[in-house]
Amino acid sequence: MGVFTLAWLVAILPLASASRALPALKQSVSPTFKIIPSTAIAGPSTARFVSGTEFDGPQVSPINSTSWDWWYFDAVSPDLKTALSIVFYNALPSGFPFLAPSDTVTIATLDCIFENGTQFYAVLEASEAIITTVGDGSSGCFEGTGASWIGAPDMTTYRVEINSPKNGIVGTFELRSLAPAHYPCGTAEAGQSMMVGPNIGWSNAVPDAVGTVDFKIAGSDFAWTGVGYHDKNWSDQPFAANVGSWFWGHGRLGNYSIVWFDFLALNGSEYVSGYAARHGEILTASCREDSVKVRPSGVNDEYPPVASSGFPGGFNITLHLGNESTLTARVHIKTVLQQSTTLYSRWAGSMEGSVDGGEVISGGVALLEEFKLV
Ligand SMILES: *[C@@H]1O[C@H](CO)[C@@H](O)[C@H](O)[C@H]1NC(C)=O
Ligand SMILES: *[C@@H]1O[C@H](CO)[C@@H](O)[C@H](O)[C@H]1NC(C)=O
Ligand SMILES: *[C@@H]1O[C@H](CO)[C@@H](O)[C@H](O)[C@H]1NC(C)=O
Ligand SMILES: *[C@@H]1O[C@H](CO)[C@@H](O)[C@H](O)[C@H]1NC(C)=O
Ligand SMILES: *[C@@H]1O[C@H](CO)[C@@H](O)[C@H](O)[C@H]1NC(C)=O
Ligand SMILES: *[C@@H]1O[C@H](CO)[C@@H](O)[C@H](O)[C@H]1NC(C)=O
Ligand SMILES: *[C@@H]1O[C@H](CO)[C@@H](O)[C@H](O)[C@H]1NC(C)=O
Repeated sequence: MGVFTLAWLVAILPLASASRALPALKQSVSPTFKIIPSTAIAGPSTARFVSGTEFDGPQVSPINSTSWDWWYFDAVSPDLKTALSIVFYNALPSGFPFLAPSDTVTIATLDCIFENGTQFYAVLEASEAIITTVGDGSSGCFEGTGASWIGAPDMTTYRVEINSPKNGIVGTFELRSLAPAHYPCGTAEAGQSMMVGPNIGWSNAVPDAVGTVDFKIAGSDFAWTGVGYHDKNWSDQPFAANVGSWFWGHGRLGNYSIVWFDFLALNGSEYVSGYAARHGEILTASCREDSVKVRPSGVNDEYPPVASSGFPGGFNITLHLGNESTLTARVHIKTVLQQSTTLYSRWAGSMEGSVDGGEVISGGVALLEEFKLV
């Protein structure tokens, strides 16, 4: 462990010193390490739901069989044909039911789609995970898998690396942030609520980024640049105990970086979070009930959705930008990235829209998902 720790610091520091936040780094140069064992502990977990320091650090500790805490990274190509998501989980299927049966808490998954529509999915089980937080950025090493990530202390850059020839995956995924981090109801500062819905924690370190994907997967080159993103979510309660359905997505439309989240709790109450930034400045980051509204459109546009309803053809999004301005966007689903029965789907979609009914902005790129569990 001691040896590993040193090696890890050596790996982190060049990235840190290359980042813009050198003064911040000096103030908080001492990293925080957390070791997550691969087995769930028996007993209570503690989850944080009010922000403090270390924006992208672990939020649940220790991990029991019903709690979950994970780091999520994705990118979609501008032609909407290829996409990648990599998730570093601290969770069991008894906490998050969409995981494959396993007793290992520390797993990394990669799913992607090639230009010709072929999908690839891999699950890598780690013997433990070591999460390091420096400043606001996190880094993680999933021991024995070859999968890790390193975030700059100011979260402006992230680099995910997977070196797992035996699973046919070797390469890197880099994010260069274009939009500031935020919580469900506001900017990245201490004292914010981190609940996007009842008992569901969410923080969005990188709402929009230049995502550079450079992998060799199953013997093929998988290298492109697109719209990237990183967030994390967590809870100390099983996912299905709180989530009825949700629509989530992120994208870039003209000069706007947007993220939406529209959630129905099991009792039918709606919770939302809307985010928009332009030229690297936040226009809105809000969970007020009118901050954003997302509704299915086209085929299967029934709302609220139920587990047995078909997936929609797209979504209509109304996002308040502040200053009485409103962005309306239409998302058209183009490519199915992942689908699990009728309960979950992730897509790449095109997007067009306008602000206050002005000039139409087209050519938007989105990556989005729907869960419907009831
Ligand atoms: C995990 O921790 C939470 C929060 O303390 C608790 O409510 C839950 O019962 C625990 N789960 C198990 C299986 O012990
Ligand atoms: C699709 O592309 C992948 C990656 O290049 C390749 O492995 C696969 O054979 C292709 N499938 C078809 C049906 O062409
Ligand atoms: C939660 O995690 C999923 C990964 O399964 C990710 O797609 C999504 O962005 C996260 N979002 C929220 C709001 O929790
Ligand atoms: C985007 O921003 C650039 C730079 O400020 C500006 O020139 C351009 O007109 C903007 N595009 C739109 C569609 O508003
Ligand atoms: C659902 O539960 C929440 C929290 O317990 C409560 O605030 C809300 O009013 C409930 N909604 C309905 C429709 O009963
Ligand atoms: C809102 O309007 C004020 C006054 O016109 C302006 O200074 C400010 O930049 C605007 N904010 C946004 C987010 O557009
Ligand atoms: C979505 O927006 C389009 C264009 O404004 C509109 O024609 C359509 O009726 C909307 N669909 C729903 C379900 O609101």
